[in-house]
Amino acid sequence: RRKVIIDTDPGIDDMMAIFMAFQSQDIEVIGLTTVFGNVDTPMSTINALHLCEVAGFPTVPVAEGSLVTLKGTLPRIADFVHGADGLGNTFQAKPKGFKSESNASDFLIQKVAEFPNEVTVVALGPLTNIAEAIQKDPTFANNLAQLVVLGGSFFATGNVNPPAEANIYCDPEAADIVFTSGANTVVIGLNLTTQVIFTAGDLQEIRDSKGRNGAYLYDCCQFYKAWHIKSDNLDGIFLHDPTCMAALLDPSLFTYKTGALRVETKGICVGHTLLDMGLKNWVGENPWIGQPPVKVGWTVDVEGVKALVKSL
Ligand code: BDR
Ligand code: CA
Repeated sequence: RRKVIIDTDPGIDDMMAIFMAFQSQDIEVIGLTTVFGNVDTPMSTINALHLCEVAGFPTVPVAEGSLVTLKGTLPRIADFVHGADGLGNTFQAKPKGFKSESNASDFLIQKVAEFPNEVTVVALGPLTNIAEAIQKDPTFANNLAQLVVLGGSFFATGNVNPPAEANIYCDPEAADIVFTSGANTVVIGLNLTTQVIFTAGDLQEIRDSKGRNGAYLYDCCQFYKAWHIKSDNLDGIFLHDPTCMAALLDPSLFTYKTGALRVETKGICVGHTLLDMGLKNWVGENPWIGQPPVKVGWTVDVEGVKALVKSL
């Protein structure tokens, strides 16, 4: 079974992706690392510990990540999307679980050093912890089996503003370091995840067919669903992080394009992700030339991903 670490800012859609990972027979979750984004980092840690308990894996270690961005600025928090507690204002997280003594980047480095080329990291939040691990340990990126990222939006709109998706916008310097690190990386962006929608009916189906976790998930999703009506006139929810988890569990549900991927770190397009699709033989310099290839999800089997999310 593939060893997986989930770097996360739970988060409603993070929660769904975490449940998918724990219930899959194909992977072994060897730890969670936490980051700011949907909530601040300490709240992400509480939620991660809590979700390990709800999923039935209370001894899986959770390592707390950075409180601030790579360059040290205070994080942007999306509590207006996920609720003040990050879990739809259900305020249920009172975990007793096991918090690791290492911080997130040290935990990532230790695990990848212990199991070189065997550890896959699924990054569901801003890329601060991953970039920190790359900066601290020059062998980290090469020794990762795979990095699967939820981030960016490719030739499509953002969700913070027209150019930028939230995870990348929250730490664009970190994202650019990660995408140019040479790690074996797959990126799933909003261009795909906004096609994968759970309707009100899908949520009811989960509630009625999944026992305790189904009812729990349904309750947590109500606040998130109200946000989608406000923001997107959508009577349903986007499955961002679950779609990313699906790319790990069944890559055949996607097609991909491969090329150099850079992130804008300044100006009005800060956080914008741009893939060189290999359509040109460039003449002259540009910041994409010579960068390692990154695989970006291009099309998605929507019904296939939804079925996978429901089956786990
Ligand atoms: C991403 O940002 C967070 O709000 C979600 O959990 C997801 O990881 C979507 O832009
Ligand atoms: Ca997330």
